[in-house]
Amino acid sequence: MAFYRAHGRHDMPWRNTRDPYRILVSEIMLQQTQVNRVGPFYENFIKQFPDFAALAGARTGDVLRAWKGLGYNRRALALQQLSKVVLEKFNGKLPREREALESLPGIGKGTSGSLMAFAFNRPEIFIETNIRRVFIHHFFPKKKIVTDAEIERCLIRTIDRKNPRKWYWALMDYGTELGRARRSATNPNRRSAHYAKQAKFSGSDRELRGKILGASLGRKEIIPAGVALRFNEPVARVERIMALLTKEGFLKRKMAKGGKNATKGPIYCIKD
Ligand code: ADE
Repeated sequence: MAFYRAHGRHDMPWRNTRDPYRILVSEIMLQQTQVNRVGPFYENFIKQFPDFAALAGARTGDVLRAWKGLGYNRRALALQQLSKVVLEKFNGKLPREREALESLPGIGKGTSGSLMAFAFNRPEIFIETNIRRVFIHHFFPKKKIVTDAEIERCLIRTIDRKNPRKWYWALMDYGTELGRARRSATNPNRRSAHYAKQAKFSGSDRELRGKILGASLGRKEIIPAGVALRFNEPVARVERIMALLTKEGFLKRKMAKGGKNATKGPIYCIKD
């Protein structure tokens, strides 16, 4: 808490609102993306989609365009679906129970916990990477492998039940600092039983997915052969990824029109 008072990141926009919608948007963005990258995307997204109704009613292409560059685009699709469910099933209000939160698209155990704490100031237990680092560093300085179950027991015994919101803000900021001071070899999270390095991005399916989706957002329709040529990739690989994007609800297949200049094979567009 002393560290937090002196060096806490008090100016982050999602910490200066109590609007559950805004806090939800920030938590989804922060799931897999670092704070400094999220900032501008968050501001722009909130301007463009200020509440559940605006997001639910938007064209999916516009939502994906606002998300472009943040990565893990599935989060954007899920967030829009979630807004529709909140309007239809929850009276337009984000539910205040953890179970109901976890029934929503894109919300797992971690995010349900962070929403309970940050949106509703409820003392629920959850772990994320910065929180984990603090507990391993302080309570398990010598232990070779620390499980989340062990960390959870410490959290239960230390959490500030009167002001869990502030407590978690402090944990995250202090954990971030510990990560900065101890890159790689001495990073306490290396001793976590759940430690996982992010997979290499360059050349990955995830990278090509992003490129294909980006190309689709700028056009009325696209065909695998054209995409393959543009990105210098085998057609089969592009077709496989486009089929996946279709299954996940990003793209839809259009019927090819007949005629002299008709293209062979499928045509795709953004599923709006
Ligand atoms: N402040 C509120 N939520 C946060 C998060 N998920 N990461 C970092 N800082 C936050």
